[in-house]
Amino acid sequence: MQKNKIYIETYGCQMNLADTEIVLGILNSKGYNVTQDANDADVVLLNTCSIRENAEQRIYGRLGRFKNLKESKPNLVVGILGCMAERLRKDLVEKNSIVDLVVGPDEYRRLPELIDVAYNGDKGIGVKLSRTETYDDITPHREDGLQAWISVIRGCDKFCTFCVVPFTRGRERSRTLTSIVNEIKELSNRGFKEVTLLGQNVNSYLDNSKDFSDLLAACAEVDRSLRIRFTTSHPQDLSDKLLYTIAENSNICNYIHLPVQSGSDRILKLMNRTYTIDHYLNLLEKARKIIPGVSFSTDIISGFPTETYEDHVKTLDVLRLVRYDGAYMFKYSPREGTKAFRMEDDVNEETKSKRLQEIIDLQQQISYEINQELIGTEETVLVEGLSKKSDQFFAGRTDTNKVVIFPKNVIVEEGSYVKVKINRATQATLFGEFVSSVDVNDENLALIA
Ligand code: SAH
Ligand code: SF4
Ligand code: F3S
Repeated sequence: MQKNKIYIETYGCQMNLADTEIVLGILNSKGYNVTQDANDADVVLLNTCSIRENAEQRIYGRLGRFKNLKESKPNLVVGILGCMAERLRKDLVEKNSIVDLVVGPDEYRRLPELIDVAYNGDKGIGVKLSRTETYDDITPHREDGLQAWISVIRGCDKFCTFCVVPFTRGRERSRTLTSIVNEIKELSNRGFKEVTLLGQNVNSYLDNSKDFSDLLAACAEVDRSLRIRFTTSHPQDLSDKLLYTIAENSNICNYIHLPVQSGSDRILKLMNRTYTIDHYLNLLEKARKIIPGVSFSTDIISGFPTETYEDHVKTLDVLRLVRYDGAYMFKYSPREGTKAFRMEDDVNEETKSKRLQEIIDLQQQISYEINQELIGTEETVLVEGLSKKSDQFFAGRTDTNKVVIFPKNVIVEEGSYVKVKINRATQATLFGEFVSSVDVNDENLALIA
């Protein structure tokens, strides 16, 4: 019997989602097929995340589930890919008898070979990091759709003291501009309407003399009806040139994810974030001048070592000052091997939780207020399909990444742009009425900005 059915689950950030598509691209070209049913699979792969302790705990929970499956199907190959594979390496196979395969983010080309090793009863291990691997020539396996991810730079050289990514993903290296632009051309031909350029710090992108602004401009030019998003920007490297590029290109979304992490300069220094709150706030002010209507989102860590109540209040102050559209908020989780791991994790669990809750409550209030202000305005929305909650409604998103729901009392196509008048809003969603279609290829172009 031929063994060729792969089942894969993906955890962690969008870079892992993009990597899963690369993995499937590699495996498809070797004759493997994807199955959606783990019970039907010959190979079960978990593409994992190490960013916080609970991300790893979740994977151990999943492995427990596959243990039963493997007992009833002894030839099943169980593999761990991604950041946990890179961080824990051989430990994963030694401590978990059911794991046969451990492959880190830079070794996916060897997967077919390593799966064969595992089929033959040995352990398949590939965890070398590379200074050059970008999977430039691999065609990712993507289902048809509207939205696609493209990794444009891999790795991270920032070494924030809390973060495992520089250890699990290795050094920064950029894909070529030409290969990225060609991929976007193909996606546009297939009817995709939105591409998100990914990297741990996209602002470090460099291909010969072409920087991230050049890349964005080149991507935006491919198809003006295709929205370009990007994530993540590090506040230290966000250049004026980048801000002008966003402002000048109507299809580059006016939305910047700019993690601040903490509102306290003392904590930022301990985190090795290399900017002060002053620098950060000035940057936002400048961005708001150059790109009218720009929205921001952020990441916050609460309870970093030595964080006092005063530091915490400074974080709340930054949220109030900036008024982010949204935020990803986390409790500090010590990660072995990082610099912060050697600092005492001295903010107790109860305090961390309490502070985190205050941050979440405040941010939800702000998101709610920002959305209330949109009532009565007309937003340009990319229609993504029917609402998940009711087939009587369409769902789409604004260029500032807000979900908009409107009644299906008109005929509009998935992937088209429409104007919707907003008449109700919650913290997470806008509700409105269809106003008109928008042809983004004519003079209405400016409307999507
Ligand atoms: N490259 C991106 C973020 C990658 S990780 C950036 O620099 O912003 C996503 C977020 O996870 C981080 O921004 C941070 O807020 C959070 N994070 C990273 N390590 C963490 C840790 N040890 N504990 C808690 N949160 C963490
Ligand atoms: Fe981690 Fe900092 Fe790199 Fe982001 S920039 S991935 S937080 S080390
Ligand atoms: Fe997690 Fe690795 Fe992404 S640690 S957040 S999957 S880079």
